Amino acid sequence: MYYIGIDLGTSAVKLLLMDGEGKIHRIVSREYPLSFPHPGWSEQNPEDWVLETFAGLRELVTDRERGQVAGIGCGGQMHGLVVLDEEDRVIRPAILWNDGRTGKETEWLNTVVGKEKLSALTANIAFAGFTAPKLLWMRENEPENFRRIRKIMLPKDYLNYRLTGVHSCDYSDASGMLLLDVKNKTWSREMLEICGVSEAQMPGLYESYDCIGTLLPEVAEQLGLSDQVKVCAGAGDNAAAAIGTGVVGEGGCNISLGTSGTIFISSEKFGVDPNNALHAFAHADGGYHLMGCMLSAASCNKWFCEDVLHTEDYASEQKDITPEKLGRNRVFFLPYLMGERSPINDVEARGTFTGLTMDTCRSDLMQAVLEGVAFAIRDSLEVARSLGLELKKSRICGGGAKSPLWREIMANVCNLELEMIESEEGPGYGGAMLAAVTCGEYESVKEAAGRLVKITGTIQPDPEISARYETQYQKFRQIYPVMKALFPVLNA
Ligand code: XUL
Repeated sequence: MYYIGIDLGTSAVKLLLMDGEGKIHRIVSREYPLSFPHPGWSEQNPEDWVLETFAGLRELVTDRERGQVAGIGCGGQMHGLVVLDEEDRVIRPAILWNDGRTGKETEWLNTVVGKEKLSALTANIAFAGFTAPKLLWMRENEPENFRRIRKIMLPKDYLNYRLTGVHSCDYSDASGMLLLDVKNKTWSREMLEICGVSEAQMPGLYESYDCIGTLLPEVAEQLGLSDQVKVCAGAGDNAAAAIGTGVVGEGGCNISLGTSGTIFISSEKFGVDPNNALHAFAHADGGYHLMGCMLSAASCNKWFCEDVLHTEDYASEQKDITPEKLGRNRVFFLPYLMGERSPINDVEARGTFTGLTMDTCRSDLMQAVLEGVAFAIRDSLEVARSLGLELKKSRICGGGAKSPLWREIMANVCNLELEMIESEEGPGYGGAMLAAVTCGEYESVKEAAGRLVKITGTIQPDPEISARYETQYQKFRQIYPVMKALFPVLNA
């Protein structure tokens, strides 16, 4: 049998066809637009996700394979607010995970409701990208739209709804709404009340590997698939990527260098970072995880190469960055192009180059961009280490992880052994694995991960380079605190 994994990302949807032994037969990717209607805002049209995913599904499967597709699983961009009216029509464009418009609402939640209460109710505090502050923003700024809401959905759940007609949400993705009592895996009545919504407006909750339904007959026909194809609840893209890289159970770690950059630490038991700098979410294997998320990771590289240097040849831009230059750059880059989430939680923060001199060249700036992202990931890693978590190695995935240079910088900045996985398609592969579990091909997510995920190589930190980066990181850490007060002034 075949299983389809969908990675509903921010710039594109990626679909893959996997067989029961975990072999990937085909990958299809289709892009859709992302709009920034105001500086710091970020929106997408949910219909674009559906159109491109459906077109991708038709392209992915050949006529010969169609009858053998058994299940579909989706890992999706998290936190995005999709609101539906009484006829399940989308009310307004989705407000995405990297949207920073809710500074005021986030502040209100964290100070007036209070971090302690939020953490007690949801295991987390408010961050601008989370879903609850977006609801408060809508209530204040678009009361007419807010009154029309009948269902509140996340991006991949809207896609699942269009596939099956079922309003669902899995625990990993629901965790990022700030509306879920993560420990007990139920909607928090109190949080819903604070946001002025009711439980009837929320989708049903599922484990990621639960079957939410089968394809609607008209959708099955349109896609040329059987209406018996099972759709599982799926997961937030980071949890799905962790499944796809085999980070399940206790103490595994995955770093994802996608549009966002995340560090994901899996756990069998529920646990909270006492300072709430790391998110405490449910995992798609039935357990939990801690996660730090930076808003612009591979997107910093894309921005610098494509928008600033006007090239798509990323490898050429990196070729002058030789090993002896690592840890010796005098230029530093703060990667806060969309503000920042973990651990500084600052919507006003902005990208910054500093340390430039007359002899600074193009590749120094390129190097600073790659290093700035690695330093910012290390910021979250340091929070995890301060909680007593002993992290010596991590898996790595995402578009940025394709660059050998960036992997080397990451390993040395973080002083972590990095493991590369045969399939780089983290969330898509994880989605297909979840679907395989749903269809009974594997008994559990753990079993699927153990059997399917293969390590293809490791990158060891080099003691000398790592020591140089330690000094560099200590310098990097001092830049943001000095700049912090200036950003709101510059942005005003
Ligand atoms: C995680 C987060 C991002 C998005 C990217 O909290 O906001 O990683 O899920 O798609």
